[in-house]
Amino acid sequence: MTAVIRVDKIGDYIDQAVKVRGWVYNRTRKGKLVFLQVRDGSGFVQCVAFKHDLSEELFEQIAHIPQESSIIVMGTVRADQRAPGIPGGFEVGITDLQIIQAADADYPMALKEHGTDFALDNRHLWIRMQSQWATLRVRATVISAIREWLDDHGYINMDTPILTPAAAEGTTTLFGTPYFDEGIAYLAQTGQLYNEANIFAFGKVYCFGPTFRAEKSKTRRHLTEFWMVEPEIAFCDLDALMEIEEQFVSHIVQRVLKDRAHELAALKRDTTLLEKITPPFPRISYDQAVDLIANLYAQENDPEKKALLAFEWGSDFGAPHEAAITQHFDKPVFVYGYPTAVKAFYMEPWPDRPEVCKSVDLLAPEGYGEIIGGSERISDPKKLLERIHDHDLPESAYQWYIDLRNFGSVPHSGFGLGVERTVTWICGIHHIRETIAFPRTINRVYP
Ligand code: 4AD
Ligand code: MG
Repeated sequence: MTAVIRVDKIGDYIDQAVKVRGWVYNRTRKGKLVFLQVRDGSGFVQCVAFKHDLSEELFEQIAHIPQESSIIVMGTVRADQRAPGIPGGFEVGITDLQIIQAADADYPMALKEHGTDFALDNRHLWIRMQSQWATLRVRATVISAIREWLDDHGYINMDTPILTPAAAEGTTTLFGTPYFDEGIAYLAQTGQLYNEANIFAFGKVYCFGPTFRAEKSKTRRHLTEFWMVEPEIAFCDLDALMEIEEQFVSHIVQRVLKDRAHELAALKRDTTLLEKITPPFPRISYDQAVDLIANLYAQENDPEKKALLAFEWGSDFGAPHEAAITQHFDKPVFVYGYPTAVKAFYMEPWPDRPEVCKSVDLLAPEGYGEIIGGSERISDPKKLLERIHDHDLPESAYQWYIDLRNFGSVPHSGFGLGVERTVTWICGIHHIRETIAFPRTINRVYP
Protein backbone atom coordinates (compact mmCIF):
# COMPACT_ATOMS: atom_id res chain seq x y z
CA MET A 1 0.00 0.00 0.00
CA THR A 2 1.35 3.41 -1.02
CA ALA A 3 1.39 5.94 1.81
CA VAL A 4 -1.00 8.91 1.73
CA ILE A 5 1.26 11.87 2.47
CA ARG A 6 0.72 15.44 3.61
CA VAL A 7 2.10 17.97 1.18
CA ASP A 8 3.81 19.96 3.94
CA LYS A 9 5.92 16.85 4.67
CA ILE A 10 6.65 16.01 1.02
CA GLY A 11 10.38 16.62 1.48
CA ASP A 12 10.55 13.38 3.48
CA TYR A 13 9.46 11.30 0.44
CA ILE A 14 11.92 12.16 -2.34
CA ASP A 15 12.01 9.40 -5.00
CA GLN A 16 9.23 7.48 -3.25
CA ALA A 17 5.81 6.45 -4.56
CA VAL A 18 3.07 8.41 -2.72
CA LYS A 19 -0.60 9.28 -2.76
CA VAL A 20 -1.82 12.88 -2.41
CA ARG A 21 -5.50 13.46 -1.61
CA GLY A 22 -6.78 16.90 -2.38
CA TRP A 23 -8.22 19.34 -4.87
CA VAL A 24 -7.17 20.76 -8.21
CA TYR A 25 -6.08 24.33 -7.60
CA ASN A 26 -4.92 25.12 -11.11
CA ARG A 27 -4.19 23.33 -14.38
CA THR A 28 -2.00 24.24 -17.35
CA ARG A 29 -0.98 22.26 -20.43
CA LYS A 30 2.28 22.44 -22.35
CA GLY A 31 2.14 19.97 -25.26
CA LYS A 32 2.69 16.49 -23.88
CA LEU A 33 2.65 17.74 -20.27
CA VAL A 34 -0.21 18.73 -18.00
CA PHE A 35 0.65 20.52 -14.76
CA LEU A 36 -1.83 20.28 -11.93
CA GLN A 37 -1.39 22.45 -8.86
CA VAL A 38 -2.90 20.30 -6.15
CA ARG A 39 -3.73 21.49 -2.65
CA ASP A 40 -4.40 19.08 0.20
CA GLY A 41 -4.98 21.52 3.06
CA SER A 42 -1.41 21.32 4.33
CA GLY A 43 0.22 22.73 1.19
CA PHE A 44 0.28 23.11 -2.58
CA VAL A 45 2.23 20.81 -4.89
CA GLN A 46 2.79 20.60 -8.62
CA CYS A 47 1.78 17.24 -10.09
CA VAL A 48 2.88 16.51 -13.65
CA ALA A 49 1.13 14.22 -16.11
CA PHE A 50 3.37 13.11 -19.00
CA LYS A 51 1.44 11.79 -22.01
CA HIS A 52 3.73 8.81 -22.59
CA ASP A 53 3.46 7.60 -18.98
CA LEU A 54 -0.34 7.34 -18.97
CA SER A 55 -3.16 5.85 -20.98
CA GLU A 56 -4.61 8.15 -23.64
CA GLU A 57 -7.91 8.22 -21.77
CA LEU A 58 -6.43 9.15 -18.39
CA PHE A 59 -4.17 11.81 -19.89
CA GLU A 60 -7.13 13.46 -21.63
CA GLN A 61 -9.17 13.29 -18.44
CA ILE A 62 -6.39 15.05 -16.53
CA ALA A 63 -5.98 17.58 -19.32
CA HIS A 64 -9.63 18.64 -18.89
CA ILE A 65 -10.18 18.23 -15.17
CA PRO A 66 -12.08 21.25 -13.75
CA GLN A 67 -10.61 23.48 -11.04
CA GLU A 68 -11.54 22.32 -7.51
CA SER A 69 -12.28 18.74 -8.53
CA SER A 70 -11.45 16.37 -5.67
CA ILE A 71 -8.82 13.83 -6.60
CA ILE A 72 -6.33 11.25 -5.40
CA VAL A 73 -2.98 11.45 -7.19
CA MET A 74 -0.61 8.51 -7.27
CA GLY A 75 2.95 9.31 -8.29
CA THR A 76 6.62 9.66 -7.50
CA VAL A 77 8.09 12.61 -5.60
CA ARG A 78 10.95 14.47 -7.30
CA ALA A 79 13.03 17.29 -5.92
CA ASP A 80 13.10 20.16 -8.43
CA GLN A 81 14.18 23.65 -7.42
CA ARG A 82 11.92 25.23 -10.04
CA ALA A 83 8.69 23.53 -8.97
CA PRO A 84 6.18 26.03 -7.57
CA GLY A 85 4.13 25.19 -4.48
CA ILE A 86 4.08 25.53 -0.72
CA PRO A 87 6.63 24.30 0.20
CA GLY A 88 8.07 24.71 -3.30
CA GLY A 89 10.88 22.64 -4.76
CA PHE A 90 9.05 19.32 -5.16
CA GLU A 91 6.81 17.77 -7.75
CA VAL A 92 4.89 14.56 -8.19
CA GLY A 93 5.24 12.64 -11.45
CA ILE A 94 1.73 11.24 -11.91
CA THR A 95 1.43 7.48 -12.42
CA ASP A 96 -2.31 7.29 -11.80
CA LEU A 97 -5.14 9.61 -10.78
CA GLN A 98 -8.62 9.03 -9.42
CA ILE A 99 -11.31 11.68 -9.64
CA ILE A 100 -13.56 11.62 -6.57
CA GLN A 101 -15.81 14.37 -7.90
CA ALA A 102 -15.41 16.44 -11.04
CA ALA A 103 -16.30 19.97 -9.93
CA ASP A 104 -18.89 22.10 -11.75
CA ALA A 105 -17.18 24.04 -14.50
CA ASP A 106 -18.45 27.43 -13.30
CA TYR A 107 -16.36 27.71 -10.11
CA PRO A 108 -16.99 31.28 -8.92
CA MET A 109 -13.57 31.88 -7.40
CA ALA A 110 -11.45 31.36 -10.50
CA LEU A 111 -7.82 32.35 -9.96
CA LYS A 112 -7.98 36.06 -10.70
CA GLU A 113 -8.67 39.26 -8.81
CA HIS A 114 -12.21 39.50 -7.44
CA GLY A 115 -14.15 42.48 -6.10
CA THR A 116 -14.25 42.58 -2.32
CA ASP A 117 -18.00 42.09 -1.95
CA PHE A 118 -17.97 39.21 -4.40
CA ALA A 119 -15.07 37.58 -2.56
CA LEU A 120 -16.81 38.04 0.79
CA ASP A 121 -20.10 36.63 -0.53
CA ASN A 122 -18.06 33.60 -1.58
CA ARG A 123 -16.01 33.43 1.59
CA HIS A 124 -16.83 29.72 1.91
CA LEU A 125 -14.82 29.21 -1.30
CA TRP A 126 -12.41 32.13 -0.98
CA ILE A 127 -10.67 30.48 2.01
CA ARG A 128 -9.31 27.88 -0.44
CA MET A 129 -7.23 30.52 -2.19
CA GLN A 130 -3.54 30.58 -1.40
CA SER A 131 -3.41 34.03 0.22
CA GLN A 132 -6.41 33.30 2.45
CA TRP A 133 -5.20 29.83 3.31
CA ALA A 134 -1.76 31.24 4.26
CA THR A 135 -3.31 33.96 6.44
CA LEU A 136 -5.55 31.52 8.30
CA ARG A 137 -2.64 29.14 8.85
CA VAL A 138 -0.71 32.01 10.43
CA ARG A 139 -3.76 32.72 12.59
CA ALA A 140 -3.79 29.14 13.88
CA THR A 141 -0.13 29.41 14.81
CA VAL A 142 -0.67 32.76 16.55
CA ILE A 143 -3.37 31.11 18.66
CA SER A 144 -1.15 28.13 19.41
CA ALA A 145 1.76 30.42 20.38
CA ILE A 146 -0.53 32.43 22.67
CA ARG A 147 -1.61 29.34 24.60
CA GLU A 148 1.90 27.92 24.61
CA TRP A 149 3.45 31.01 26.20
CA LEU A 150 0.74 31.45 28.81
CA ASP A 151 0.58 27.77 29.74
CA ASP A 152 4.38 27.64 30.03
CA HIS A 153 4.42 30.70 32.29
CA GLY A 154 1.98 29.53 34.93
CA TYR A 155 -1.21 31.15 33.71
CA ILE A 156 -4.41 29.18 34.33
CA ASN A 157 -6.94 29.19 31.49
CA MET A 158 -10.36 30.25 32.76
CA ASP A 159 -13.40 30.41 30.51
CA THR A 160 -15.43 33.50 31.22
CA PRO A 161 -19.11 33.91 30.32
CA ILE A 162 -20.30 35.17 26.97
CA LEU A 163 -23.79 36.06 28.24
CA THR A 164 -23.28 38.85 30.74
CA PRO A 165 -25.48 41.18 32.80
CA ALA A 166 -23.73 44.51 32.14
CA ALA A 167 -21.27 46.55 30.07
CA ALA A 168 -17.54 46.37 30.73
CA GLU A 169 -16.08 48.36 27.83
CA GLY A 170 -18.60 51.16 27.33
CA THR A 171 -22.34 51.01 26.83
CA THR A 172 -22.37 52.05 23.17
CA THR A 173 -21.07 48.79 21.69
CA LEU A 174 -23.31 46.25 23.44
CA PHE A 175 -25.19 43.48 21.69
CA GLY A 176 -28.26 42.61 23.74
CA THR A 177 -30.40 39.52 23.65
CA PRO A 178 -33.65 38.78 25.52
CA TYR A 179 -32.92 36.54 28.50
CA PHE A 180 -36.00 34.82 29.94
CA ASP A 181 -37.34 36.74 32.96
CA GLU A 182 -34.01 38.47 33.58
CA GLY A 183 -34.42 41.19 30.99
CA ILE A 184 -31.60 41.73 28.53
CA ALA A 185 -28.31 39.84 28.60
CA TYR A 186 -25.31 41.21 26.71
CA LEU A 187 -22.72 39.39 24.62
CA ALA A 188 -19.35 39.76 26.33
CA GLN A 189 -17.16 42.70 25.28
CA THR A 190 -14.40 41.30 27.48
CA GLY A 191 -13.85 38.57 30.06
CA GLN A 192 -11.70 40.85 32.16
CA LEU A 193 -14.03 41.56 35.05
CA TYR A 194 -14.49 37.84 35.67
CA ASN A 195 -10.75 37.31 35.42
CA GLU A 196 -10.30 39.88 38.16
CA ALA A 197 -12.30 37.50 40.35
CA ASN A 198 -10.33 34.53 39.03
CA ILE A 199 -6.90 35.93 40.00
CA PHE A 200 -7.87 35.96 43.67
CA ALA A 201 -8.32 32.20 43.39
CA PHE A 202 -5.56 31.36 40.88
CA GLY A 203 -3.01 34.23 40.85
CA LYS A 204 -2.39 34.41 37.11
CA VAL A 205 -5.13 33.55 34.62
CA TYR A 206 -6.24 34.08 31.06
CA CYS A 207 -9.45 33.81 29.15
CA PHE A 208 -9.48 33.36 25.41
CA GLY A 209 -12.65 33.52 23.45
CA PRO A 210 -14.96 35.30 21.07
CA THR A 211 -15.66 38.90 21.94
CA PHE A 212 -18.52 41.03 20.69
CA ARG A 213 -18.71 44.73 19.99
CA ALA A 214 -21.51 46.47 18.16
CA GLU A 215 -18.88 48.73 16.59
CA LYS A 216 -20.53 51.31 14.39
CA SER A 217 -17.18 51.99 12.74
CA LYS A 218 -16.61 50.64 9.24
CA THR A 219 -12.84 50.57 9.33
CA ARG A 220 -10.28 48.03 8.22
CA ARG A 221 -9.48 47.34 11.90
CA HIS A 222 -12.93 46.58 13.30
CA LEU A 223 -14.98 43.41 13.46
CA THR A 224 -18.18 42.95 15.48
CA GLU A 225 -17.04 39.47 16.53
CA PHE A 226 -13.35 38.91 17.20
CA TRP A 227 -11.12 36.76 19.38
CA MET A 228 -9.31 38.22 22.33
CA VAL A 229 -6.89 36.68 24.80
CA GLU A 230 -6.93 38.37 28.19
CA PRO A 231 -4.27 37.60 30.78
CA GLU A 232 -4.82 39.00 34.28
CA ILE A 233 -2.18 39.01 37.01
CA ALA A 234 -2.31 39.57 40.78
CA PHE A 235 0.46 41.63 42.43
CA CYS A 236 1.33 43.28 39.13
CA ASP A 237 1.74 46.98 38.38
CA LEU A 238 1.89 48.84 35.08
CA ASP A 239 5.66 48.40 34.57
CA ALA A 240 5.53 44.68 35.24
CA LEU A 241 2.60 44.43 32.84
CA MET A 242 4.60 45.98 30.00
CA GLU A 243 7.42 43.49 30.57
CA ILE A 244 4.96 40.61 30.30
CA GLU A 245 3.41 42.01 27.13
CA GLU A 246 6.73 42.45 25.32
CA GLN A 247 7.83 38.90 26.15
CA PHE A 248 4.46 37.53 25.08
CA VAL A 249 4.20 39.38 21.75
CA SER A 250 7.82 38.62 20.86
CA HIS A 251 7.19 34.93 21.46
CA ILE A 252 4.14 34.95 19.17
CA VAL A 253 6.02 36.67 16.33
CA GLN A 254 9.12 34.48 16.64
CA ARG A 255 7.03 31.31 16.70
CA VAL A 256 5.23 32.36 13.49
CA LEU A 257 8.58 33.12 11.84
CA LYS A 258 9.81 29.65 12.78
CA ASP A 259 6.71 27.62 11.87
CA ARG A 260 5.03 29.62 9.10
CA ALA A 261 7.89 30.78 6.90
CA HIS A 262 6.29 29.34 3.75
CA GLU A 263 2.98 31.04 4.44
CA LEU A 264 4.67 34.40 5.10
CA ALA A 265 6.61 33.98 1.85
CA ALA A 266 3.36 33.25 -0.01
CA LEU A 267 2.00 36.51 1.43
CA LYS A 268 5.20 38.30 0.32
CA ARG A 269 5.73 39.48 3.88
CA ASP A 270 9.01 41.27 4.59
CA THR A 271 10.13 39.04 7.46
CA THR A 272 13.24 41.12 8.26
CA LEU A 273 10.82 43.55 9.93
CA LEU A 274 9.38 40.75 12.06
CA GLU A 275 12.81 39.42 13.05
CA LYS A 276 13.36 42.68 14.95
CA ILE A 277 10.42 41.98 17.27
CA THR A 278 12.29 41.12 20.47
CA PRO A 279 12.17 42.66 23.96
CA PRO A 280 12.40 45.37 25.12
CA PHE A 281 9.84 47.53 23.32
CA PRO A 282 10.00 51.34 23.48
CA ARG A 283 7.71 53.05 26.01
CA ILE A 284 6.33 56.55 25.66
CA SER A 285 3.69 58.42 27.60
CA TYR A 286 0.46 59.67 26.07
CA ASP A 287 1.84 63.21 26.51
CA GLN A 288 4.96 62.32 24.49
CA ALA A 289 2.82 60.68 21.83
CA VAL A 290 0.77 63.87 21.53
CA ASP A 291 4.01 65.83 21.02
CA LEU A 292 5.12 63.42 18.27
CA ILE A 293 1.82 63.97 16.48
CA ALA A 294 2.07 67.74 16.92
CA ASN A 295 5.56 67.74 15.34
CA LEU A 296 4.38 65.76 12.35
CA TYR A 297 1.37 68.05 12.04
CA ALA A 298 3.65 71.09 11.94
CA GLN A 299 5.85 69.50 9.23
CA GLU A 300 3.02 68.25 7.02
CA ASN A 301 2.37 70.37 3.91
CA ASP A 302 -0.37 68.32 2.25
CA PRO A 303 -3.63 69.86 3.60
CA GLU A 304 -5.55 66.57 3.48
CA LYS A 305 -2.92 64.66 5.44
CA LYS A 306 -2.57 67.58 7.82
CA ALA A 307 -6.29 67.53 8.58
CA LEU A 308 -6.06 63.84 9.48
CA LEU A 309 -3.28 64.57 11.97
CA ALA A 310 -5.15 67.34 13.79
CA PHE A 311 -5.29 66.39 17.47
CA GLU A 312 -5.99 67.81 20.90
CA TRP A 313 -4.79 66.58 24.26
CA GLY A 314 -7.59 64.58 25.88
CA SER A 315 -8.88 62.78 22.81
CA ASP A 316 -8.35 59.16 21.91
CA PHE A 317 -6.05 58.41 18.99
CA GLY A 318 -7.57 57.51 15.64
CA ALA A 319 -5.89 55.26 13.10
CA PRO A 320 -3.93 58.13 11.42
CA HIS A 321 -2.55 59.24 14.81
CA GLU A 322 -1.50 55.73 15.74
CA ALA A 323 0.16 55.34 12.34
CA ALA A 324 2.00 58.62 12.92
CA ILE A 325 3.26 57.46 16.32
CA THR A 326 4.40 54.03 15.09
CA GLN A 327 6.40 55.41 12.18
CA HIS A 328 9.05 56.51 14.69
CA PHE A 329 9.71 52.93 15.81
CA ASP A 330 10.53 49.60 14.20
CA LYS A 331 9.11 47.62 17.13
CA PRO A 332 5.70 47.77 18.77
CA VAL A 333 5.55 50.82 21.05
CA PHE A 334 3.84 51.12 24.42
CA VAL A 335 1.82 54.27 24.96
CA TYR A 336 0.89 54.61 28.64
CA GLY A 337 -1.01 57.13 30.75
CA TYR A 338 -4.04 57.99 28.58
CA PRO A 339 -6.59 60.53 29.75
CA THR A 340 -9.00 58.90 32.19
CA ALA A 341 -11.95 60.31 30.24
CA VAL A 342 -11.29 58.20 27.11
CA LYS A 343 -10.68 54.92 28.92
CA ALA A 344 -12.81 52.33 30.72
CA PHE A 345 -14.08 52.90 34.27
CA TYR A 346 -11.85 50.32 35.98
CA MET A 347 -8.42 51.86 35.34
CA GLU A 348 -6.25 52.97 38.26
CA PRO A 349 -5.74 56.75 38.30
CA TRP A 350 -2.18 58.08 37.95
CA PRO A 351 -0.85 59.11 41.41
CA ASP A 352 -1.31 62.90 41.87
CA ARG A 353 -2.67 63.25 38.34
CA PRO A 354 -6.22 61.87 38.30
CA GLU A 355 -6.95 63.16 34.78
CA VAL A 356 -4.59 60.45 33.55
CA CYS A 357 -4.84 56.70 34.21
CA LYS A 358 -2.50 53.72 34.42
CA SER A 359 -3.51 52.38 31.05
CA VAL A 360 -1.20 51.12 28.33
CA ASP A 361 -1.88 50.36 24.69
CA LEU A 362 0.57 48.50 22.51
CA LEU A 363 0.77 49.88 18.96
CA ALA A 364 2.16 47.64 16.23
CA PRO A 365 4.69 49.11 13.78
CA GLU A 366 4.27 49.89 10.06
CA GLY A 367 1.13 51.87 10.84
CA TYR A 368 -0.87 48.89 12.15
CA GLY A 369 -1.63 50.53 15.48
CA GLU A 370 -3.33 49.15 18.58
CA ILE A 371 -3.14 45.41 19.06
CA ILE A 372 -3.31 45.40 22.88
CA GLY A 373 -5.24 47.43 25.42
CA GLY A 374 -4.47 46.98 29.09
CA SER A 375 -4.09 48.66 32.45
CA GLU A 376 -3.52 48.48 36.14
CA ARG A 377 -6.97 48.12 37.76
CA ILE A 378 -8.43 50.16 40.56
CA SER A 379 -7.79 48.20 43.74
CA ASP A 380 -9.57 50.51 46.20
CA PRO A 381 -13.34 49.83 46.61
CA LYS A 382 -14.29 53.48 47.26
CA LYS A 383 -12.42 54.78 44.24
CA LEU A 384 -14.01 52.08 42.11
CA LEU A 385 -17.52 52.95 43.26
CA GLU A 386 -16.93 56.60 42.37
CA ARG A 387 -15.88 55.63 38.86
CA ILE A 388 -18.93 53.39 38.42
CA HIS A 389 -21.12 56.37 39.35
CA ASP A 390 -19.14 58.74 37.07
CA HIS A 391 -19.86 56.38 34.18
CA ASP A 392 -23.56 56.08 35.06
CA LEU A 393 -23.25 52.32 35.39
CA PRO A 394 -25.79 50.38 37.50
CA GLU A 395 -24.07 49.76 40.84
CA SER A 396 -26.12 46.65 41.56
CA ALA A 397 -24.80 44.82 38.48
CA TYR A 398 -21.22 45.44 39.68
CA GLN A 399 -21.69 44.53 43.35
CA TRP A 400 -19.68 41.33 43.03
CA TYR A 401 -16.89 43.20 41.22
CA ILE A 402 -16.65 45.84 43.95
CA ASP A 403 -16.72 43.03 46.50
CA LEU A 404 -13.38 41.71 45.21
CA ARG A 405 -11.77 44.87 46.58
CA ASN A 406 -13.08 44.19 50.08
CA PHE A 407 -11.50 40.77 50.55
CA GLY A 408 -7.75 40.85 50.08
CA SER A 409 -7.46 43.51 47.39
CA VAL A 410 -4.03 43.74 45.71
CA PRO A 411 -2.54 45.81 42.92
CA HIS A 412 -3.33 43.90 39.76
CA SER A 413 -3.15 44.37 36.02
CA GLY A 414 -4.06 42.72 32.78
CA PHE A 415 -4.43 43.21 29.08
CA GLY A 416 -6.34 42.05 26.03
CA LEU A 417 -4.69 41.17 22.73
CA GLY A 418 -6.89 41.07 19.63
CA VAL A 419 -6.04 37.99 17.57
CA GLU A 420 -7.23 39.40 14.25
CA ARG A 421 -5.38 42.71 14.61
CA THR A 422 -2.22 40.81 15.50
CA VAL A 423 -2.57 38.48 12.51
CA THR A 424 -3.22 41.45 10.21
CA TRP A 425 0.06 42.97 11.30
CA ILE A 426 2.13 39.78 11.24
CA CYS A 427 0.83 38.89 7.77
CA GLY A 428 1.29 42.48 6.59
CA ILE A 429 -2.17 42.59 5.03
CA HIS A 430 -4.52 45.49 4.54
CA HIS A 431 -7.84 44.45 6.05
CA ILE A 432 -8.72 42.63 9.26
CA ARG A 433 -11.59 40.70 7.65
CA GLU A 434 -9.15 38.31 5.94
CA THR A 435 -7.75 37.11 9.27
CA ILE A 436 -10.86 35.20 10.39
CA ALA A 437 -12.53 32.47 8.36
CA PHE A 438 -16.03 33.99 8.49
CA PRO A 439 -15.82 37.68 9.38
CA ARG A 440 -18.63 39.56 11.07
CA THR A 441 -18.78 43.27 10.36
CA ILE A 442 -21.39 45.98 10.68
CA ASN A 443 -22.90 45.07 7.29
CA ARG A 444 -22.15 41.36 7.03
CA VAL A 445 -23.31 38.19 8.77
CA TYR A 446 -23.31 35.99 5.62
CA PRO A 447 -22.01 33.37 4.97
O1 4AD B 1 -8.67 47.88 24.19
P1 4AD B 1 -9.79 46.90 24.43
O2 4AD B 1 -11.16 47.39 24.29
O3 4AD B 1 -9.51 46.32 25.88
C1 4AD B 1 -10.32 45.49 26.59
O4 4AD B 1 -11.33 44.97 26.19
C2 4AD B 1 -9.79 45.15 27.95
N1 4AD B 1 -10.90 44.64 28.77
C3 4AD B 1 -8.70 44.14 27.82
C4 4AD B 1 -8.10 43.78 29.15
O5 4AD B 1 -7.46 44.62 29.74
N2 4AD B 1 -8.32 42.58 29.61
O6 4AD B 1 -9.59 45.66 23.45
C5 4AD B 1 -8.40 44.91 23.49
C6 4AD B 1 -7.96 44.56 22.09
C7 4AD B 1 -7.63 45.75 21.20
O7 4AD B 1 -6.34 46.23 21.44
C8 4AD B 1 -7.77 45.14 19.83
O8 4AD B 1 -6.63 44.38 19.50
C9 4AD B 1 -8.93 44.19 20.02
O9 4AD B 1 -9.00 43.89 21.39
N3 4AD B 1 -10.18 44.78 19.57
C10 4AD B 1 -10.75 44.55 18.38
N4 4AD B 1 -10.38 43.78 17.35
C11 4AD B 1 -11.19 43.74 16.28
N5 4AD B 1 -12.35 44.42 16.17
C12 4AD B 1 -12.76 45.21 17.18
N6 4AD B 1 -13.92 45.85 17.09
C13 4AD B 1 -11.96 45.30 18.36
N7 4AD B 1 -12.06 45.96 19.53
C14 4AD B 1 -10.98 45.63 20.25
MG1 MG C 1 -8.38 49.71 23.27
